[in-house]
Formats: sequence, structure tokens, C-alpha cells
Amino acid sequence: MAKSFIVTTIVENELVAQNTYRMRIACPEIARSFKPGQFCMIRKPGVNDPLLGRPFAIYDLYRNMFSDPVGVDVMYLVVGKATAGFAELLPGQPIEIWGPLGNGFSLDSSVKHLIMLAGGIGQTPFLTLAKDALINKDIKISYPPVLPSPSPKITLCYGARSKDAFAGLDDFKKLGINLALTTVDGTAPDGFDCRQGFATDPMKEIFESEPADGLFVCACGPRPMLIAAQKLMNQYNVRGQMSLETPMACGLGICFTCVAKIQDDSGAWDYKRTCKEGPVFDAKRILWE
Ligand SMILES: Cc1cc2nc3c(=O)[nH]c(=O)nc-3n(C[C@H](O)[C@H](O)[C@H](O)COP(=O)(O)OP(=O)(O)OC[C@H]3O[C@@H](n4cnc5c(N)ncnc54)[C@H](O)[C@@H]3O)c2cc1C
Ligand code: FES
Repeated sequence: MAKSFIVTTIVENELVAQNTYRMRIACPEIARSFKPGQFCMIRKPGVNDPLLGRPFAIYDLYRNMFSDPVGVDVMYLVVGKATAGFAELLPGQPIEIWGPLGNGFSLDSSVKHLIMLAGGIGQTPFLTLAKDALINKDIKISYPPVLPSPSPKITLCYGARSKDAFAGLDDFKKLGINLALTTVDGTAPDGFDCRQGFATDPMKEIFESEPADGLFVCACGPRPMLIAAQKLMNQYNVRGQMSLETPMACGLGICFTCVAKIQDDSGAWDYKRTCKEGPVFDAKRILWE
């Protein structure tokens, strides 16, 4: 892991959906040590406002002609000053990145059906997770994905406000996993089946039709979606993990800006730092204030 920000180069920075960009960053050290679900902090060099880096999931790794991982792709939604600044950057310009940070997802071989639940920009930690699960390893991802036996069935339940907000659908489709798409306004992206509703709707249908002990949910997205998902998971006794997108300042474990209330085995709770002990937590242990 890089111990602090490194200055490197942007390889690509393309608009891929409404207000959403995919930025490719050269950083072999981060790409080589990354685990799905981890994130990196990114900062525009030479800028004082905002001064601090911002956290982003690592969406994908990219490789050189010898298949060595040489960098990462992040996918970001423009919401404020930092992300608006990123959107102006061009290939060849410098960028500061630090990572990989946080714990990442962990799956075991009892998982028969992995449900990746994403809302908004919450699909970003799942491409590498799907690739990883497809090759049945929990640390490295490799290309092209190989389908060993047994590999879990994978469904991405992905909800957006409208069809234009979906980003990366072709990347997931290429993996051959099941896609269950929903939009709030009922619009459907070209070439994909999609229905009106929330991402938790198709997830609930899976809960109703398959044995709970083989199911495992990995969820990332807006808080109301995570709260609704947790309720359903408790109701149907389905295990899972959630990646929290709490605001972060230091990314170092020092400032406690990023804390979440997490229960321990005895039922007592404590604040855990999303940047250090997270961002991935056991779904049933998260308490919402
Ligand atoms: C572990 C982790 C992984 C993340 N991965 C990604 C990722 O892969 N892609 C991505 O786009 N974002 C991701 N985020 C969220 C991302 O860090 C924020 O969107 C970013 O910090 C916003 O910075 P900003 O300066 O542009 O906006 P700010 O100035 O910090 O915020 C501007 C406004 O937008 C609101 N806002 C901030 N974050 C969000 C949000 N996520 N959604 C909606 N409104 C928001 C703020 O409340 C504020 O009103 C992740 C967050 C965490 C903690
Ligand atoms: S961001 Fe400072 S402790 Fe997590």
C-alpha cells in the first residue's frame, strides 16, 4: 500500500453516464495490492479548496500487455467541488492517489448465490467483486475471468433514478452475471430489461424463492436503500455485508469524521471508523441513527 498520496498520471477520464465519469489512473503499486471493496483517496494536485482527498471505490484494474496490473479505474458522480474539479482533468495531467485503503469484502465457499445490491453510484465496488467471485478467490482478480466449478451464481440488483444514471452496465453484462435493473421513473436503458421500482424489489423476490443459507448480499448505495435491505435481510435471515459511503476527512483513522455505529457480539455498540475498520461491515451489525 502507498503510505500517503502519490502523484501520478491520468490515463483516461471519460463521461460514461449522466454526470458520471470513469477515470483511469496509472498506479501499479495500488493495483497490485488491491482487494475488492477497498477504496482509495484521490486529490487534485495544487488545489487548496478542497484541500482534502475524497474516497472512491476502485471500480476496476487495468493491465499492461503482459497482464500485469498497472493502474485502477474509478467511477465518480459529480456532486460537489472535488468531483467537479476531477471532471475537468485531461489524460496526461497529474492526479494524487492513496490506497488501497479499508478492509474490503470477504466471501466464503458457502455462498451459492451472491446478490450485489447497488443504488445510485453504489455499483462501483462490485465489478471487481464479481470478477473475483467468478474465479473463486478472495484476494486477486484476474483476466479474462475463468469460471471454475463451483462458482457462485451472481445477481446484480442495481437501482437508479432514471435510465441515464446507470453506469458500467456493459462491464457487468460482459461477465455474464444476472442483471436485475430498476428505475424510479420506469425508464429502461437501451438493450437492457429494467422495471419500475427499487433495487430491493428483485432482491426480495430472490429471498422469497431460494434457501436463505446459500444467499449472501453485498450492498452499497444510499442510506435508505441500505436500511430497507437490512430489514429484509433480517426478516428472511439472509447474511451479508454493506459498504458504507460515509464522508471522510483524513482517511487515516485519526479524525473520526467517518464513524458508524457498529454492534459487537454482546449486542453493545461502538463507533467504528469507516476508513479503517470499514468501509465494509457485517450488515446485521450496523445501527442507523
Ligand atoms: C468508501 C467510499 C467509497 C466511495 N466510492 C465512491 C465511488 O466509487 N464513486 C463516487 O462517485 N462516490 C464515491 N464515494 C462518495 C464520494 O467520496 C463523494 O461523492 C465525494 O467525496 C464528494 O466530494 P465533493 O467534494 O465532490 O462533494 P462535497 O463538496 O463533499 O459534497 C457536495 C454535496 O454533495 C453531497 N454528497 C456528498 N457525497 C455524496 C454522495 N455520495 N451522493 C450524493 N450526494 C453526496 C454532500 O452532502 C454535499 O451536499 C465513496 C465514499 C466512500 C466513503
Ligand atoms: S476519515 Fe478520519 S478517521 Fe476516518
